[in-house]
Amino acid sequence: MAVDMKGKDIISIHDLSREEVNQILDTAHMLKTKDKIGDIYQPLRGKTLGMIFQKASTRTRISFEVAMWQLGGYALFLSAADLQLKRGETIADTARVLSRYLNGIMIRTYSHQEVLDLAEHSTVPVINGLTDLLHPCQVLSDLFTIQEKLGRLQGVNLAYIGDGNNVAHSLMFGGAKVGMHVTICSPPGYEPDPEITALAREDAAKSGATINLVADPAAAVKSADIIYTDVWASMGQEEEHQQRVKTFARYQVNSELLKQAKEDALVMHCLPAHRGEEITDEVADGRNSIVFDQAENRLHVQKAILALVM
Ligand code: CP
Ligand code: NVA
Repeated sequence: MAVDMKGKDIISIHDLSREEVNQILDTAHMLKTKDKIGDIYQPLRGKTLGMIFQKASTRTRISFEVAMWQLGGYALFLSAADLQLKRGETIADTARVLSRYLNGIMIRTYSHQEVLDLAEHSTVPVINGLTDLLHPCQVLSDLFTIQEKLGRLQGVNLAYIGDGNNVAHSLMFGGAKVGMHVTICSPPGYEPDPEITALAREDAAKSGATINLVADPAAAVKSADIIYTDVWASMGQEEEHQQRVKTFARYQVNSELLKQAKEDALVMHCLPAHRGEEITDEVADGRNSIVFDQAENRLHVQKAILALVM
């Protein structure tokens, strides 16, 4: 039976039920199918999404904007630098005001607490378009891509090689919800947040998933169906970049590492990639790579999220 998600905030996959995750994936499948046959479907006619950006974006901005357009609505790009937020207006007042104009707010920012505060004071649904802590829309799309490629999610082995960052955290939450075995392989000192790990393990216990933290990339990829990586220095960590390049050198997803994995293991990256750092050209453009299918699916999955919550 369909779950009513109207008005729901999408801030963390941990807050969603498995039924809600399934509903997003099923709706995305329906919308992608319609899109491919040119069937116009516009449930959001007359509705407007505001998109607040404190950080740069290619995929998130464009896929959300196109998603709203295709669903018959309108999307407003709101650079935080040009809002009164920049001059000290509170996030709470911003939420109260934007709620009077908009039917939904998407925000990409640094502090996760800022998104929670926005949602608390907003009367319209708030969608997390990435914080320092989480990137739920990315991982909901990734679950869709994995299901599309492998025909299942339950029992899939995913090895994430790299920084225990926002994408790693959401992969743990997403994998835990749907019964995947998620291994996060990071250099010592760059493991995922212990609180996120504990919460993911609570969800994992209910779904049959497992969450493992390891340090050796060759061992991590051995039985992986999916090998996933992301940049070594995320947005906001630019000053640590040089030092991280040294620390993470052994954690590159390259042809040598792929030789340790199953021949048909699929390679994923949320993009943007720093080619030559966390992933080589050979792998990103190789036959195991599905990185651009992943990028495309942001559109279909976010259309599903918007159609369900707005
Ligand atoms: N993957 C992702 O969120 O890309 P952007 O930073 O380009 O939005
Ligand atoms: N971890 C990366 C993801 C970008 C989509 C960052 O936060 O910069």
